[in-house]
Amino acid sequence: MESLQRLSFVSFIALLAYFAFLASAELHVREFVIEPKPVKRLCRTHQSITVNGQFPGPTLEVRNGDSLAITVINRARYNISIHWHGIRQLRNPWADGPEYITQCPIRPGQSYTYRFTIEDQEGTLWWHAHSRWLRATVYGALIIYPRLGSPYPFSMPKRDIPILLGEWWDRNPMDVLRQAQFTGAAANVSDAYTINGQPGDLYRCSRAETVRFPIFPGETVQLRVINAGLNQELFFSVANHQLTVVETDSAYTKPFTTSVIMIGPGQTTNVLLTANQRPRRYYMAARAYNSANAPFDNTTTTAILEYVNAPTRRGRGRGQIAPVFPVLPGFNDTATATAFTNRLRYWKRAPVPLQVDENLFFTVGLGLTNCSNPNSPRCQGPNGTRFAASINNQSFVLPRRNSIMQAYYQGMPGIFTTDFPPVPPVQFDYTGNVSRGLWQPVKGTKAYKLKYRANVQIVLQDTSIVTTENHPMHLHGYQFYVVGSGFGNFNPRTDPARFNLYDPPERNTVGTPPGGWVAIRFVADNPGAWFMHCHIDSHLGWGLAMVFLVENGIGQLQSVQAPPLDLPRC
Ligand code: C2O
Repeated sequence: MESLQRLSFVSFIALLAYFAFLASAELHVREFVIEPKPVKRLCRTHQSITVNGQFPGPTLEVRNGDSLAITVINRARYNISIHWHGIRQLRNPWADGPEYITQCPIRPGQSYTYRFTIEDQEGTLWWHAHSRWLRATVYGALIIYPRLGSPYPFSMPKRDIPILLGEWWDRNPMDVLRQAQFTGAAANVSDAYTINGQPGDLYRCSRAETVRFPIFPGETVQLRVINAGLNQELFFSVANHQLTVVETDSAYTKPFTTSVIMIGPGQTTNVLLTANQRPRRYYMAARAYNSANAPFDNTTTTAILEYVNAPTRRGRGRGQIAPVFPVLPGFNDTATATAFTNRLRYWKRAPVPLQVDENLFFTVGLGLTNCSNPNSPRCQGPNGTRFAASINNQSFVLPRRNSIMQAYYQGMPGIFTTDFPPVPPVQFDYTGNVSRGLWQPVKGTKAYKLKYRANVQIVLQDTSIVTTENHPMHLHGYQFYVVGSGFGNFNPRTDPARFNLYDPPERNTVGTPPGGWVAIRFVADNPGAWFMHCHIDSHLGWGLAMVFLVENGIGQLQSVQAPPLDLPRC
């Protein structure tokens, strides 16, 4: 009798805990109205596409376990879709967002509600348009706090500052893209980089709006740095202050201290900063890490970290003392970029798959498409060609009549094929002097099938076709472990022996070392169609992309959910 009572007491407590757990998870219902708004930068006003009139867009702050229902209402003149970069979207590709991959775009005048739940993720992520170049102005931070009462693996500062790094064109970015698509040449580089939407003191007509971050002496803050730029890896640094890296791409790292970080498009990096310097004003600054032999925007964006007790100039001038400027690496300082990324480690022992079921080798890089009439206005790339890019010589073309996920789910033929090659069609010296006959990729819409729960390894091998380059490769629907990297050609006999299978960093976007390779591993435990692509939008447009089609497992809990009723149709 007594034991029965005790049992029911225990189950009562368990039930209470369960309800408390349920009650702590929140549903965030939001509206994202996509609309043009006048935005003035670099002395000129443009009708920029925004979310709710804001540039950058609104920051979403949620907790692990929360659900979101975000209704995107398209009041712009372009098709659009929104991607929640880094959210795993378990069994729910319908909410992922890349146009023509998991959904048809939202047409002008239409709307679509993205419904998803954060499952076992915390840290800094972000959201952005996934439709041509609209993400130039349509992006924002997505911050996931741990569940109530769940601790951070480091002592978490009271204050948190999102730092969104962006790129600004003194033109409509959609026109910049359109022109490049017509001519086949590279798109114009941006006119400015921005920090939280502002170029800063070093650009024309920008000084009054430079972003300022007041800080108390002795205080430690967390900077959530997000590279939302379209086409450029960046170095970021704060004058006289050390940065302690604690997280990348929503995965904690073993903390380490550095004076500069390198961050590729799509990546996020959280750093702690302590105000332990003389009470002054200090610039934080970002400028290009340019690993390619190609034109780039060589300007520098700044914001100001100002100690609240920084002295101002006495006497007549009410001006403030000029901020201290940080030391930034040279534009092509690959040694500094590599030394930084090589220091990243997962914060504890990582559950890395130890054996591999799918051993994939992907060459990634640029290419050139030959023209029958090299003098054509449509062939303004090098020597009368058009720029291209590919993975394993396959240059990805988006379908038009349906999205890949919808076609797959409905069993509609003719939209894509599943014969994406697991290895390059020909072997060559990838990073050497590549013969011209190998420069032209083949166009197609191909996916690679993965069995549910397969252990996947991908070696991403940069090529020297046109130019070697750091390609920030992003995989949708997954986080992966970066188990190894190196320069030159990957050697399958010797390199795997040096893989870090103990505490490799976990990411959703990883850069190939320029003229080198990087190896990643993940378990294919999320069924659906998942895009993998270079997060440099110029390269994405040229075809540096492919799709993984992860099959369902057994039963409902291992299968893709039914699509929502309001999913847009093509
Ligand atoms: Cu952040 Cu497919 O993109």
